[in-house]
Amino acid sequence: EKGGWSSFMRKEVSEQPEAVANTIRGRIVEGEVHIPELESFGDDELRGIRRITIVACGTASYAGLVAKYAIEQWARVPVEVELSHEFRYREPVIDDTTLVLSISQSGETMDTLMAVKYAREQGARTISICNTQGATIPRESDAVVYTHAGPEVAVASTKAFVAQITALYLFGLHLARVRGTLSREALTEALTELQEIPAKIETVLGESERVAQLAHWMADTRSVLFLGRHVGFPIALEGALKLKELAYIHAEGFAAGELKHGPIALIEPGQPVFVVVPSPRGSASLHPKVVSNIQEIRARGARVIAIAEAGDAAVLPFADEVIRIPLAAPLFEPLLAVVPLQVFAMELSQAKGLDVDQPRNLAKSVTVE
Ligand code: F6R
Repeated sequence: EKGGWSSFMRKEVSEQPEAVANTIRGRIVEGEVHIPELESFGDDELRGIRRITIVACGTASYAGLVAKYAIEQWARVPVEVELSHEFRYREPVIDDTTLVLSISQSGETMDTLMAVKYAREQGARTISICNTQGATIPRESDAVVYTHAGPEVAVASTKAFVAQITALYLFGLHLARVRGTLSREALTEALTELQEIPAKIETVLGESERVAQLAHWMADTRSVLFLGRHVGFPIALEGALKLKELAYIHAEGFAAGELKHGPIALIEPGQPVFVVVPSPRGSASLHPKVVSNIQEIRARGARVIAIAEAGDAAVLPFADEVIRIPLAAPLFEPLLAVVPLQVFAMELSQAKGLDVDQPRNLAKSVTVE
């Protein structure tokens, strides 16, 4: 079933362009988002939503964090993201104006299932983003928007993650249209950006050889830090999680703005730090702030690996390595920036001779608490 690939993970990482394309397929009709699965939600009901609570665990929760930025920007509705196991044990305040969106590749994660059940009991409406047809969580939800990533076998989630962001973005754009919070042009532009993502992921995959080399050089590394801002922040968290689970290396992701509030104390000569650099073309640009973070850590001896947009020359004087991603609107960058981080973790795992598909102590679906 690996079809010539040395591991499922390698195969699944390479399938990400299709995972996104298949999740979009049939859902953009004549320049409009079209999600028939959501027909049980009337437009009035979608307009009446006061708040969205996303529940998920692990990588799925990071897809939720990415989507929070997009849904709030597009649909002007507050979005909170909560780990399912924290949500269900704290008597969260929800009612029939709350939409609870669950995200689960397997559709069987016990804590997420229980979070959805709790939410329904409280009168919330529930939508599940799921990759597994007929799984338990979608059956327990009012509606399901399937990601069409195809079966994900490797324990570490990769193609399901990009498919989750894609489905959440489609949902966010649908909501924005119904609520009238985006102009026609902005809506069309976002849909066009989304449709361009598969080809751009293909381009990023073309950098894999260089990323692999980096991983091989770093096979003895004991700790790696990841920094990002805005939608790059959850990508930093995801990069760190991938490295922990696949290569058993201590890794942490931070919001770059937090550096001075503590994490910069960790920087010592030789410390590798991946930095997800926002596009210099963003409107209220965060780019100079992140470049100055890079300067700060570099001055303390960090070894900086920047993931930056093609043509961004500002990072060159300060980064030890630069991995390029194609130009995309800021909200779409996570779908590109995550790829080298997945590849890095996978290659480091292989360089250490570990089982990349079945990391120790982990199971593909966590059906117990
Ligand atoms: C990380 C990973 C896990 C899952 C988490 C949720 O690579 O695979 O963090 O994302 O266990 O699983 P699902 O999406 O099946 O609910």
